[in-house]
Amino acid sequence: MPSLVKLCRLEDVDENGSNGFIAETPEGRRGFLVVRRDSEVYVYINSCPHIGSPLDFDPGKFLNLEKTHIMCSTHGALFNIEDGHCISGPCAGKDLEKVEARIEDGNIQLIY
Ligand code: FES
Repeated sequence: MPSLVKLCRLEDVDENGSNGFIAETPEGRRGFLVVRRDSEVYVYINSCPHIGSPLDFDPGKFLNLEKTHIMCSTHGALFNIEDGHCISGPCAGKDLEKVEARIEDGNIQLIY
């Protein structure tokens, strides 16, 4: 039986926007990034696959200007919103760690 971890309210993340959160999980305290797009919610561990640092220099801002990709604000690496795959930058070819999530009663819950 998977355990559910409440991350935030759905309205804490703008539609076609992003935000960052910290939550206690069965694996310890972790930072997460959330992107909302086309009624879907995408959640990843907020850690770049190349040096493990958070991607948001400006807290909660994870998207490039065009809002087409997740971006590391320090190095400009771009990641697909849908699967976290890095398409350019120092970690090209690597992936953000995706976290399964669901929405219930207006809450975004992580599935562990
Ligand atoms: S920390 Fe990896 S691209 Fe910036």
